[in-house]
Order: sequence, then structure tokens, then C-alpha cells
Amino acid sequence: MEDLFVIVGGGLAGAMAAQTLREEGFAGRITVLCAEDHRPYERPPLSKAYLSGSADRESVFVHPDGWYAEHDVTLLAGVRATAVDPQAHTVATSDGSLLRYTKLLLATGSTPRPLPAAGADLDGVHYLRTVADADSLAPRLVEGARVVVVGGGWIGLEVAAAARAAKADVTVVETAAMPLQRVLGREVARVFVDLHEANGVRVISGASVRELLGSGRVETVKLTDGTQLAADLVVVGIGAQPNLELAVDAGLDVGDGVLADASLRTSDPDIFAAGDVAAAEHPMLGRRVRVEHWANARHSGVAAAKAMLGQPVRYDRVPYFYTDQYTSHPSIGMEYAGWALPGEYDEVVFRGDPAVRPDASPEFIAFWLKGGCVLAGMNVNVWDVQENIQALVRAGYAGKQVDPKKLSDPDVPLSELVP
Ligand code: NAI
Repeated sequence: MEDLFVIVGGGLAGAMAAQTLREEGFAGRITVLCAEDHRPYERPPLSKAYLSGSADRESVFVHPDGWYAEHDVTLLAGVRATAVDPQAHTVATSDGSLLRYTKLLLATGSTPRPLPAAGADLDGVHYLRTVADADSLAPRLVEGARVVVVGGGWIGLEVAAAARAAKADVTVVETAAMPLQRVLGREVARVFVDLHEANGVRVISGASVRELLGSGRVETVKLTDGTQLAADLVVVGIGAQPNLELAVDAGLDVGDGVLADASLRTSDPDIFAAGDVAAAEHPMLGRRVRVEHWANARHSGVAAAKAMLGQPVRYDRVPYFYTDQYTSHPSIGMEYAGWALPGEYDEVVFRGDPAVRPDASPEFIAFWLKGGCVLAGMNVNVWDVQENIQALVRAGYAGKQVDPKKLSDPDVPLSELVP
């Protein structure tokens, strides 16, 4: 029987899977269902260079226009999967077709969480997930615009930086004690708060939105403590939810994502999952994780394709993400590798000075440790150290301790600390 591989989801994970299948010599049919009207694109620029206007539309796409036809990949743009039948091995689509598959990849991504407040449907309230969202937001980030960003996560802070670059007046409203505290813990989250405040952002933490007011268009953001913020524009970035409906309806095992083993195979042997939607066993971390970052979309798409071809796959890359915020001092370009949620580490060690000063950008590496083992590391405005950081994280997860004094001493090369 002819091999018919169907990829549900035209994001980075789906695009990388299609590319990998052809690179690995797969000669069967490949169909990619892409709910958006565009061919697959990369999301990081949408909240950074593309939003600020310094990267053009063409630069965001994963492949050039002709790539899919040249590689005999059927890309169905503007077509979504509506149901998967694992017994019949079929996918029903929004254009009324029924596609047979021999192997299926679910790379359906995630959707921004809607703001649970009255008035959230007013004009002027934006989310940022798609290129269309970025196109609608970018022209509104202008000098003097009063922008209220709800949620001080990665979307919120990257948008805040882009808005300040456009000389907008920016307020960030965050429910937690500090923006990014949920992922970085208070020691390093503090650095980002200082960065944004030094760039003129007003950060209001420990606050929630009660309602948005305005006649047709948003004019005021009212917080639960009664504070009222004048707003021409609200950008909501309060987290994302995995798109699980197809998997649930198909009877696959799901939790906080489509459950998958370390080869990205779901509870159905012919269905795989990659990208934001996959909650996969991670051999190094010894737990199941779901990672909503660019690097995971890219690499899990590759791994899932190899697993679909029957190759032995053990997807155990060190989780990695990066951000760039601001282009003039103080600014941060950083990379993070590892996994160290607040409550799971007992110490943060800094190599370099994390203080944010008005006329200089901080340069340091932060390490999160537990019992002397490195769980994660983040290099801020320091480059070419990821290989060593990831080696330290692998060693840490294998139970090897490092001396925190040496870790904090810039005169001791990191390579000397890698066991
Ligand atoms: P997030 O999970 O990073 O941050 C959401 C923030 O909103 C948290 O700080 C949370 O405490 C706060 N929050 C939750 N409910 C709130 C409320 N009602 N009012 C005010 N604050 C509230 O999610 P975000 O920023 O929406 O991003 C979506 C996904 O995309 C995340 O997984 C993120 O990691 C990813 N992403 C990654 C980037 C990167 O790697 N550089 C860039 C942009 C997004």
C-alpha cells in the first residue's frame, strides 16, 4: 500500500516534519493541512523584528514559495482538519474531503488564552499569535499611543519592547508578583522588570483586569483594585492553550497536551505529536513536558518525522529558548537552556553582574541549581556559551555537582566545569 503521511498543522513543527521526511528519502505522499491562508512561517519575528518593521514578510516563512511543489508536498492552505478517525485511518477536512493516512502527525499548536474580563471583545483589544495578528497590531504601535499590555510573559514583554521602540506609552499589568516570575523565579525575573522600567515601561504587578471599558473601542482598563488605565490599545498575552480538540475527539490520551512517548508517538501507534501540542516524555528531565518555544517546534518536528519513518528516536534535547528585548541600552539578548521552575531549585548563581543600569546592558550568566546540580542556565548579552551551559545542564540532571564558587567566577572557564 502507498505510504500516505498527513501532517495536521502548518506551523514550524509541521514544516520541519515535511522537510525531514523528504530529506530522509521518504517517497510516499505528504499532505500538510495548514489552517491559516499562508504557507508555514516562524513565529519569533512576530513579536520582535517583524512587529517593529525591521524584518519583511518574506523573511518569516520557513520555506520559499515554490518549495512545497518542488518537493512534491501537498500544502493545503486555509484547510483545517475537523476530525481524525484512528480506526479508519482518515482525516476529515474543512473543505469536505476525507484523507487517508498511513501515519499522521498532530502539530496543531496552541491558541492564546482569552482574557476573562468584561469588554475583552471591544475593538482595540489584540492578541499576538499569527502573522495576521502582527499585521493588525504593528501599525498601532506609534508614538504616544497608550498601550496596556495584559500579561508580563514573553509575548507581553517582547510587545512592550517593540511598543517602546515606537515611542508608545506602555503599561504592563501582571497578576503574579513579577512578570516572568512563573518561569524564571524572582531572582532573574527582577532583571527583566528593571530592564523594562529603565526603558520607561510602567510595570504593575500583583494586579488583575476587572473590565475593559469603551464605546465600541477600548478606552479604559479597570483593574480589580479600582485603578483605571487610559488605553488606545490593549495587548493580551496571558498564556496559551494547546489545541487538543482533534486528539480528544479521536480518543487519544491527553493531559496538558497530547501525551507522547520519547519518540513522540501518541497512544495510537500511527499518530505522532510535535510542537506546542505535544506533552512528551523527556528522558533527561525524567518527566513529561510540553514546551511552547520555537526550538522545540523546530526540533520535535524533525524528530517526529524520523519516528514516523520507523527510525529509533529519543527526543531529549535540552529545552531552549531565547528573547531579544530593546535595541539600545539597556537591552537584553538572551538564551535559556534547561528546566528549573520556581520551587524546584534552591539557589541561583550569577556569573557577572545582573544589575541593569541606564546607559549599559547587563552581561551575565545565571545558573539555577539544586543540591549543587545545574538545572538551567541563561546567558544574557554573553554569547557562544550555550554548548557549555547545555553540557552543565545534562551533567546536572545526571546528578553531577559543580562548585557554585567556580561557577560564579568569570576567571574559571565554563568548559573546565563541564565534567
Ligand atoms: P506566558 O505563559 O509566557 O506568560 C503569561 C503571563 O501572563 C504570565 O506571567 C502570567 O502570570 C500572566 N497572566 C496570566 N493571567 C493573567 C491575567 N488575567 N492578567 C494579567 N496577567 C496574567 O504566555 P504568553 O506571553 O502569552 O506567550 C504564549 C506562549 O508563547 C508561551 O508559552 C511563551 O513561552 C511563548 N512565547 C515564547 C517566546 C520566546 O520564546 N521568546 C516569545 C513569545 C511567546
